[in-house]
Amino acid sequence: MQKKMLHQSAILILLRLSLALSDCHPPTPSTNTPPRKSFSEAATIARPHCRTRCGNLTVPYPFGIGLNSSCSIDPSFEVNCDTSYTPPKLFISEGDREIVDISEQHVRIRNWVATACYNESGYFTSLDNVSFDFKTKAFPYSFSDANQFMVVGCDDWVDIVGPLGIDRSFVRNYTSSCASFCSNISDPIDGFCMGNGCCRTSVPKGLLAFSSKFYTLDYHMKVHSFNPCGYAFIGEAEKFEFHASYLWDMGFKNWMIENVPIVLDWAIGNLTCNQAKKNGDFACRENSDCVDSDTGLGGYRCNCSEGYEGNPYLSPGCTDIDECQNNPCHEHGICNNTLGGYNCSCAKGYKGDGRKDGFGCVAMIMNSQFPVIKFSIGLIK
Ligand SMILES: *[C@@H]1O[C@H](CO)[C@@H](O)[C@H](O)[C@H]1NC(C)=O
Ligand SMILES: *[C@@H]1O[C@H](CO)[C@@H](O)[C@H](O)[C@H]1NC(C)=O
Ligand SMILES: *[C@@H]1O[C@H](CO)[C@@H](O)[C@H](O)[C@H]1NC(C)=O
Ligand SMILES: *[C@@H]1O[C@H](CO)[C@@H](O)[C@H](O)[C@H]1NC(C)=O
Ligand SMILES: *[C@@H]1O[C@H](CO)[C@@H](O)[C@H](O)[C@H]1NC(C)=O
Ligand SMILES: *[C@@H]1O[C@H](CO)[C@@H](O)[C@H](O)[C@H]1NC(C)=O
Ligand SMILES: *[C@@H]1O[C@H](CO)[C@@H](O)[C@H](O)[C@H]1NC(C)=O
Ligand SMILES: *[C@@H]1O[C@H](CO)[C@@H](O)[C@H](O)[C@H]1NC(C)=O
Ligand SMILES: *[C@@H]1O[C@H](CO)[C@@H](O)[C@H](O)[C@H]1NC(C)=O
Ligand SMILES: *[C@@H]1O[C@H](CO)[C@@H](O)[C@H](O)[C@H]1NC(C)=O
Repeated sequence: MQKKMLHQSAILILLRLSLALSDCHPPTPSTNTPPRKSFSEAATIARPHCRTRCGNLTVPYPFGIGLNSSCSIDPSFEVNCDTSYTPPKLFISEGDREIVDISEQHVRIRNWVATACYNESGYFTSLDNVSFDFKTKAFPYSFSDANQFMVVGCDDWVDIVGPLGIDRSFVRNYTSSCASFCSNISDPIDGFCMGNGCCRTSVPKGLLAFSSKFYTLDYHMKVHSFNPCGYAFIGEAEKFEFHASYLWDMGFKNWMIENVPIVLDWAIGNLTCNQAKKNGDFACRENSDCVDSDTGLGGYRCNCSEGYEGNPYLSPGCTDIDECQNNPCHEHGICNNTLGGYNCSCAKGYKGDGRKDGFGCVAMIMNSQFPVIKFSIGLIK
């Protein structure tokens, strides 16, 4: 009898514990499901007879490989796969802006670094790549606010100017500046970009082009021994961390170009979702939601609805995710895939919502007349 009592209390504590634990984690249906396939992992990635790959990159519709190929949704989404490089390189339209990544929200392109170099006596020896714009056909793109405007140098004040689209038609100039000075090679500190060898500032979304204007106090004469050049660029903020060696390392520009891309927002056309729907020229297919672009330039993108995956721009649209493939239910639960979701239920003899992240399935002892005693007798046996 003594033995039995001990077992009973142990089981009760266990039950309380597990109930308390599931109270802390209210059911959230999607946490256990695998990440949905993006539009470049869909069963259908491109239009029929269109190439889907360029070197390492997958090119999903509405983008399309080939100029005048009808593989893209409109000519502005054409990309050019230049196979004269090994591996081949992908470019925006007919221009020389190299694409390094295409995702559902962004296109990343190789960086473009403005450089001002001086000789010991303070004369410009070079001033390169101070302006950046898209070619006329590259209508869908604008700079994302995931970028920052950054300056690396010890005697540099750089203004950035560029057209900012607002309300589609109205365009005004955006201007900002970043200044970076240091007097001693030991001033700049790795990881700190606050005006001492490095300066960074945010850029607004919707920026369509920019040019950098370099100013200097002393033509780099006092810092020339360790910093002959100043650099200015827009780049993906989270990919850049300052190192003091960038100031004298002549490989810095190439490192930047290789490692810190420019992030672009893209959108279809210049109409909102509602306008495009009314217009009858609407790009979003079955089981997808339309999302208005937030760049101020108009346009929209399509997004597979919750529980669906695939390419929302191509017929037959997004397809149901079979969540049951990676059983998202509790170990005693039964999964039932439904359109846009799934249901969990509990196997016979178990009770609960069946969800791994919910209450799970508990053996139905609480419902019997003398549940605890029955259960513990079973255990002792
Ligand atoms: C291509 O992708 C593979 C694997 O993702 C990677 O190891 C390789 O460096 C990539 N090549 C180029 C040229 O980007
Ligand atoms: C695409 O068409 C335009 C005119 O429609 C033409 O000027 C251009 O050369 C063509 N490009 C290619 C690669 O065929
Ligand atoms: C300007 O930038 C492009 C792209 O990074 C590069 O190919 C070109 O050589 C640069 N021009 C100069 C003069 O550095
Ligand atoms: C710097 O450049 C100027 C103009 O090209 C030249 O006259 C001067 O000799 C150069 N100074 C040095 C130290 O090379
Ligand atoms: C929208 O784009 C069309 C061409 O696709 C152009 O004719 C029209 O002027 C644009 N509208 C605005 C407000 O920019
Ligand atoms: C914007 O700036 C550019 C370059 O500084 C200038 O040429 C243009 O006139 C400006 N546009 C407006 C609308 O201020
Ligand atoms: C730079 O700083 C070091 C110590 O931090 C000092 O010894 C040196 O004199 C300084 N150089 C100049 C040019 O100020
Ligand atoms: C796209 O849909 C997913 C769910 O299907 C949602 O989590 C995400 O926030 C949506 N993205 C946008 C930009 O609406
Ligand atoms: C699965 O769900 C569908 C739709 O909700 C329903 O018709 C079907 O009976 C369910 N199957 C099981 C085994 O629960
Ligand atoms: C099954 O799940 C769907 C959502 O995926 C929900 O609408 C439906 O009510 C659930 N059916 C049952 C029987 O729980």
